[in-house]
Amino acid sequence: MSSAYLQCIEDACRRKQDTKKDGHACAYCGGLLEVKYEFEAFDPENMRRAWHQRRLSGEPIDRSGVWRFRELIPFTGPGDRIISLSEGSTPLVGTRRTGWWAGPVHLTIKHQGNNPTGSFKDLGMTACITRADSRGIRRVACASTGNTSSSMAAYAARAGMKALLFVPYRQISAAKLAQALDFGALVVEVGDTFDEAFRLLREIACELDLYLVNSVNPFRIEGQKTIVAEMLEQRAWQPPDYIVVPGGNLGNVSAIGKGLRELKEFGFIEKVPQLVVVQAAGASPFHQMLAGGLSELTPVDKPDTEATAIRIGHPANWKKAQRVLEWSGGFTESVSDTEIFEAKAMLAEDGVGCEPASAATVAGVRKLVRAGRIPWHADIVCVLTGNQLKDTEYVMRHRSDDQESCQRLLRVEPNLEALRKALAPVVGKSRQSTVDSRQ
Ligand code: F0G
Repeated sequence: MSSAYLQCIEDACRRKQDTKKDGHACAYCGGLLEVKYEFEAFDPENMRRAWHQRRLSGEPIDRSGVWRFRELIPFTGPGDRIISLSEGSTPLVGTRRTGWWAGPVHLTIKHQGNNPTGSFKDLGMTACITRADSRGIRRVACASTGNTSSSMAAYAARAGMKALLFVPYRQISAAKLAQALDFGALVVEVGDTFDEAFRLLREIACELDLYLVNSVNPFRIEGQKTIVAEMLEQRAWQPPDYIVVPGGNLGNVSAIGKGLRELKEFGFIEKVPQLVVVQAAGASPFHQMLAGGLSELTPVDKPDTEATAIRIGHPANWKKAQRVLEWSGGFTESVSDTEIFEAKAMLAEDGVGCEPASAATVAGVRKLVRAGRIPWHADIVCVLTGNQLKDTEYVMRHRSDDQESCQRLLRVEPNLEALRKALAPVVGKSRQSTVDSRQ
């Protein structure tokens, strides 16, 4: 039997919740909930070996980069179906120019865009939908800036559940919307911001008997935290100095913090990396709170950034995020859309594509190094949260007008003369004219 239980995170409450229900808020004080376990004692050395060996296994549960570390998320019971799409197992990619440009720092990329639906959300979704399935739930819902929704739609389809998603009107990328529709979800465009859609969903979820799979659902955090085990395994269990994530609803940083904390408690690591959250300047209530030394978050009413994935003014998980930042000695930064664009372009020069929100991490590192808050040559992992193809409108909007640049879209008449003329600024003299000039 599973030893998992839900507990309120508020210091003044800390009450265990009724195990028959899976709430997304404390039944007593309304606080955030987290999953706790009575863990069996671990022998880190044996565990590392077992996790490593599972990589050679053909079993679906071992192929998943979440369930391969199942000892860290022992909330399933015997007979529970694992709803997996072979998520996780994402690459850790070194950078050359980007690390130099942003620092110089030793910069590696943990690319979560290489997940089944193209974002880090799949790690949490496999856990959450597995939990929902074990509870006999057949209808799930979320509000989303796009990635949670496509992930939910895929995993719900896999489990044979109905998926409803609330998205702000005309605020999410077409690719993300298309993914959700493709997986058979019902899409409800409601409100002008994520925060509005989320508030309405929370208010109506219970009445309509919808199981909420936003990151306030603590089982999402459980799946997402396994990224830390995978990342550390890829680094031979040597923690970096910093782990940097983009911040929206602040579930991801909370999950990474929980994962690190547990691994430290079990003796897998000694050193704790400092967690850094980077928000887009126009949607940075968490950064403003911490930078201003405040103890309460003031929501941003009209969050504004081109990085639509993190266009969030009232992050639901800020208290969890604040806790893990304090624990890890971490901090926050905010970056402008221009800085995000530059960082994304730099990553592209290294052959690494991502969606704009993800590039905020690299932009943040550059800014923090320049401000002297991150030292030169620091060992940094930036988590790129979403795939390059998640927001192609952004790329098309930002393609260059510079005549010398290759990053342009040309339309050329179908004849050689027109082609020569159009390509001359980029390729210089044609081969024929070079030969001519040598004669
Ligand atoms: N990066 C991407 C690509 C995202 O989609 C999100 C969040 C974040 C970063 C921020 O992560 O919320 O855990 O702090 N997207 C959510 C969504 C809100 O609905 O897809 P967070």
